[in-house]
Amino acid sequence: MDKTVFELLNDQINKELYSAYLYLDMANFYSKKGLDGFANWYEIQAKEEQDHAMLMYRYLHNNDQDVTLGAIAKPDKTFATLLDPLKAGLEHERYVTSLINAIYAAAVKASDFRTTQFLDWFIKEQGEEEKNSTDLITKMELFGDDARGLYLLNQELAGRVYSAPSLVLD
Ligand code: FEO
Repeated sequence: MDKTVFELLNDQINKELYSAYLYLDMANFYSKKGLDGFANWYEIQAKEEQDHAMLMYRYLHNNDQDVTLGAIAKPDKTFATLLDPLKAGLEHERYVTSLINAIYAAAVKASDFRTTQFLDWFIKEQGEEEKNSTDLITKMELFGDDARGLYLLNQELAGRVYSAPSLVLD
């Protein structure tokens, strides 16, 4: 595998695990506020990020690469309002999209089409992640200021259930 492509993918394992940690921090914030539905939504988000990390980890191993794991940074965001984590989540997903795009571009440059095919799933996933984050902000801005609206939104988010990623690696 091309050295740059490998290093970016190896580093992305860490970035995905950091994402999981960041979303767990958001779940923790909402849990402390008594909003168990919001907390559930972000706990599931954290699980999905662990899945993303594991997909990259397995992909590198399947391609006989020497994976190394680094320290996961402390979640560094501070939240003052109920809307803050939602906005930080969207900002973070846009950042992750830029990282995935950079790996994709490096793979194209190296003519590593196995990796571009692997990353196609992540490109699509990032589109969904950004849309989900944007939709949450829209709903919160529409209904979040009203106690009854917040209660119903919390109930809706409590209904989110985890499902394993559609991408499966042997
Ligand atoms: Fe792994 Fe939310 O992107």
